[in-house]
Amino acid sequence: GRRVTVRDIAAAKERHEKWPMLTAYDALTARIFDEAGIPVLLVGDSAAMVVYGYDSTIPVTVDDLIPLTAAVVRGSKRAMVVADLPFGSYQTGVPEALSAATRFLKETGAHAVKLEGGRRILPQVEAMVAAGIPVMGHLGLTPQSVNAFGGYRVQGRGQDGDELMADAKALQAAGAFSVVLECVPEDLAARVTASLAIPTIGIGGGNQTDAQVLVWQDMAGLTPRTAKFVKRFADMNTLLSEAARSYADEVVSGVYPAPEHTYR
Ligand code: KIV
Ligand code: NA
Repeated sequence: GRRVTVRDIAAAKERHEKWPMLTAYDALTARIFDEAGIPVLLVGDSAAMVVYGYDSTIPVTVDDLIPLTAAVVRGSKRAMVVADLPFGSYQTGVPEALSAATRFLKETGAHAVKLEGGRRILPQVEAMVAAGIPVMGHLGLTPQSVNAFGGYRVQGRGQDGDELMADAKALQAAGAFSVVLECVPEDLAARVTASLAIPTIGIGGGNQTDAQVLVWQDMAGLTPRTAKFVKRFADMNTLLSEAARSYADEVVSGVYPAPEHTYR
């Protein structure tokens, strides 16, 4: 089987088919999600938090994300792999943005890049599209701007909704193949979705977007605290904690390793 492409993503919107996206940061989970039929895997700069232990996405670098992205490409067979461009790698200008994006495609095999912002990063989006790099936009609560927002809060209420709509249309006109809408009122997400020919991917944007995305550790209940928009589809925190405790108990008591785990 071949990989999912931007053409498949475009065709899904024409057929009004919803689709799921998940983050992935390593080969094992990429393989599990790929085999579960997740068509698009995002190596998010959320790796700053869930992999590297920072408390925002600001500190993570291209060099931090390249090995994770390469692992996700190696671990998957069918999914399109999208590489998130980290803070500082594209805001500074078109040449910097192009070199960051080309590094991801050349060094990891990723198929597309994602960057945060609308009209203010249009020259970067246009240059990437001109270079043949599929671009996923990201509007609403863009976590790389947390310091400007003064915290993680719902975006696009009232007049800000018109600005977000204008940004979404500008990204589409610049050639973006899709756009993430994070933490925005559902009526705004619905209006943007209806106004665009490219798919919208919601996270905290209600039920009317063309696709949904979650950080996998949130989706699987591995992270201890999550935002209102997250549904925990499993309780991996409890599962993994209990596994570690059982292992520890059995090592201390001498129950593990048993004869069946032992070479003779
Ligand atoms: O970094 C990330 O995980 C993301 C998604 C939540 C959209 O940008
Ligand atoms: Na991100």
